[in-house]
Amino acid sequence: MPEPSGPVRLADHTTLHLGGPAAEFVLAASEQQLIDAVSAADAAGRPVLVLGGGSNLVVADEGFDGVVVKVATAGVGADIEDADDPSCGGVLVEVAAGEVWDDLVASAVERGWVGVEALSGIPGSVGATPIQNVGAYGQEVAQTIASVRVWDRRLRGVRTFAAAECGFGYRWSRFKADPARHVVLSVRFQFRTGTLSAPIAYDQLARELEVEPGARVGLGRVRRAVLALRRGKGMVLYPDPARPDHDTWSAGSFFTNPVVEPSRVPPGAPAYPQPDGSVKTSAAWLIDHAGFAKGHAPAALGGRVSLSTKHTLALTNRGTGTTADLVALAREIRDGVRERYRIELVPEPVLLGVEL
Ligand code: EPU
Repeated sequence: MPEPSGPVRLADHTTLHLGGPAAEFVLAASEQQLIDAVSAADAAGRPVLVLGGGSNLVVADEGFDGVVVKVATAGVGADIEDADDPSCGGVLVEVAAGEVWDDLVASAVERGWVGVEALSGIPGSVGATPIQNVGAYGQEVAQTIASVRVWDRRLRGVRTFAAAECGFGYRWSRFKADPARHVVLSVRFQFRTGTLSAPIAYDQLARELEVEPGARVGLGRVRRAVLALRRGKGMVLYPDPARPDHDTWSAGSFFTNPVVEPSRVPPGAPAYPQPDGSVKTSAAWLIDHAGFAKGHAPAALGGRVSLSTKHTLALTNRGTGTTADLVALAREIRDGVRERYRIELVPEPVLLGVEL
């Protein structure tokens, strides 16, 4: 295992660019190093943070008094595709948890693996995707995940969960329900193979593509359209440190979309009926209509943090913010929505050492 290095600032490992030092930081380049680092910390009774891309994480300014294990495992292994066998027509792909999610999507699109093209441009690592069942533009990873291999910290062994055992729901899974228990080692996807996308299942994307919902279009076209939509919302990371786009200094959507009784949805708000009779509405809409426009920056926080200027659901660090600032902004938004609509917004990112 690599020697733990000196103090590492977690701000350098989160897309919000926020978070204090880690007491100890271990880079796990192999699955064994990952398991060893987590097991050693567990045996010593020390808190563990398993860090992927840091794109869904809010860390306290005080930092983390435990062991941060950065997952840096690599490897994408595809079974041989048999395009001539109509009974099969797909491919199983085993991907190490540390792989960059969007690199996997890019290569899936290139190789004709269907089912994740609408999940283009999402920051973070592959191992993080099953935890909150990452989704966007009508797809979610639960639709293509075949199984998830984990290190079970309680049983101290490797386990494989078939997709049906993962408890996937909207931004939810058994891994999120029991956060200190599982460390994702690898994810196995089952992709259909082909050149056309899965049916377009999101109106905004269909409009961008100028097709009817339900149409199938070239995989590359879907990827380009999704990237364009995401860019317009500040939801694609901007790689040039010399000219930072602070709208992208976020954790993506800061709140989940509330699922409520139909009677609770405010007139005019988006409403997506759920199979159980409840309705999912839009957190971005509620925030907007509770009086917090895009770019909202409370004077008391000195402009150090604000809502994204491109989307009300992203809380952003304008460069000099602190986690305390961000939390103050999140509370203001949550309280404002509660007061106006009696709906409780629930944060989506993992909060470490902070509470709303
Ligand atoms: N809206 C506003 N003001 C805004 C932005 C949006 O009122 O500034 C309203 C509009 O009515 C719009 C509606 O909110 O129609 C929904 O907005 P959008 O289509 O951007 O989607 P979202 O519900 O805000 C969800 C996911 C995103 C995902 C997009 C696209 C959640 C919490 N968020 O956002 O996921 O990219 O759909 O599928 O489910 C993430 O989870 O981090 C994330 C970015």
